[in-house]
Amino acid sequence: MTIFRRLRNYFNNLGLGKKVVIILSVTTALAGILLSGLGTERLNSLLVDQKINSSTEIANTLAATALPDLLTNDFVDLQDSTDGVVARDDRQEIVYVGVYDTAGKLLVHSSRQAGKQTPAESADMIKTSVPLSINGRNFGRVDMYVSLSRIKSNVLAVVLSLAGLLLLVIVASAAATAFVAMRMIVKPVRNLAASAKQISEGNLDFKIPVKSEDELGELSQDFNHMAQILKERQSELRVAYEKLERNYKAIREAYKELRELDHMKSGFIAVVSHELKTPLSLIKGYIETILAGNLGKANARQREKLALVMNSVDRLSDIVDKSLDFSIIERGSLVIEQQNLALSKVLDAVVDEFALEASERELDLEKDISDGLPHLAGDEIRLHQVFHNLVANAIDFTSAGGTVRVHAYFDAEHRQDIVEISDTGSGIPKKELRYLFTPFYQVESPTTRKHPGMGLGLAVAKGIVEGHGGTITVSSRVGKGSIFSIALPVLDGDGAGAAADNIK
Ligand SMILES: Nc1ncnc2c1ncn2[C@@H]1O[C@H](COP(=O)(O)OP(=O)(O)OP(=O)(O)O)[C@@H](O)[C@H]1O
Ligand SMILES: [Mg+2]
Repeated sequence: MTIFRRLRNYFNNLGLGKKVVIILSVTTALAGILLSGLGTERLNSLLVDQKINSSTEIANTLAATALPDLLTNDFVDLQDSTDGVVARDDRQEIVYVGVYDTAGKLLVHSSRQAGKQTPAESADMIKTSVPLSINGRNFGRVDMYVSLSRIKSNVLAVVLSLAGLLLLVIVASAAATAFVAMRMIVKPVRNLAASAKQISEGNLDFKIPVKSEDELGELSQDFNHMAQILKERQSELRVAYEKLERNYKAIREAYKELRELDHMKSGFIAVVSHELKTPLSLIKGYIETILAGNLGKANARQREKLALVMNSVDRLSDIVDKSLDFSIIERGSLVIEQQNLALSKVLDAVVDEFALEASERELDLEKDISDGLPHLAGDEIRLHQVFHNLVANAIDFTSAGGTVRVHAYFDAEHRQDIVEISDTGSGIPKKELRYLFTPFYQVESPTTRKHPGMGLGLAVAKGIVEGHGGTITVSSRVGKGSIFSIALPVLDGDGAGAAADNIK
């Protein structure tokens, strides 16, 4: 982690008061440093200018007194004059004064250091040169060197004292700011935070005292308002929850009742179907006996009526059989008689059964069964029932001129026989498809329906196919027709059926 990041983390973790103090101290210190820098520069140049002026003045005065001595060649007086200039300089800033003739030859000089040499010019040393002339005639010059180190050290001392003073001001202002920040910001914010905590802990009746009309006061009011709204929402939620709970209880009870009713319905269907089966078989047997002439010869009219009765008995038997099958499947007690079965045999029989009806209805009944369809472990009677219902439906829902097709092939990848029963009939709306295998479900309303039946065929078919470890699916387009597709696992090479595990 970089130092900058560490500092930032440290700063972020500080309290509000400390943050305010640090920001103020740093900005005041920076401003102080900037101002001191500018002040030093300004003071320096002011004092240096002053020194140049006063040096020029002294040099001019010296030139005025030196000129007569020079003209009279009184070098002793001249020397006294330059010595006097150096001696009178209490601050000891004039380090060298020299008088030169027009050729630049040094005539006399006074120096604070021993020797004749002029000091080297530098930033700390200024040189003032004044001509010795009268009426436009030049007789030489006076050079004077003044040291600035004293000025500079004085400026430094002033700046240092100012800096010290500034530091004191910073410390005092930081302390004052901290005090003010604590009183005006940090303390109210802390109080606000403590109050907000009460609200966040669920004490929605708590009211934050509003002590001012500034931003903090507004914030407190907003918090109180928010707590009020939360309280209202909470009570609305409680009411909604109680309602939901009541509804849930009602639904649960209704569901329980429905389950009981459903159970009773299944029991009722099972019992009634069972009870109807024996008298129906008896009626059927007697009609067959009469039609066979075993109870005396029936005339043509009687035979015709008996054939009608027989037809109705067959339909009734079909309804009773399907109801019984449905109650067996619903109870989960469907028994699949496992046998090595060639599906083509079952499909041939079904197609033969419907050949006459299809031609009477002017329908094309097509059969396309692949050769060598692998055998499966199946129940011939039950599978016959499935395909019978599917072909019956297809014929019922297809108008004259249409086609019903039975297509069977082997799906080698998934090792299953596929049977597709398709038609070019009315088709089924998409939204109905998901309910199609639900017991007693029929797409057409009972009043407009022409198709006979109870809506059990597909539910029973699904139970039988799944009992074989297979699947049944449907795809359909209104006005174009439907395809019912059944997939059944085939026997393994050694004769053990892939579906055998599912077969009781
Ligand atoms: N090939 C099809 N074309 C159009 N609609 C179909 C087709 N097959 C089934 N249906 C719709 O699905 C419903 C349910 O069919 P299902 O075979 O379960 O019952 P059902 O034929 O009405 O009576 P049943 O119990 O005698 O079979 C039908 O009533 C019909 O509305
Ligand atoms: Mg049907």
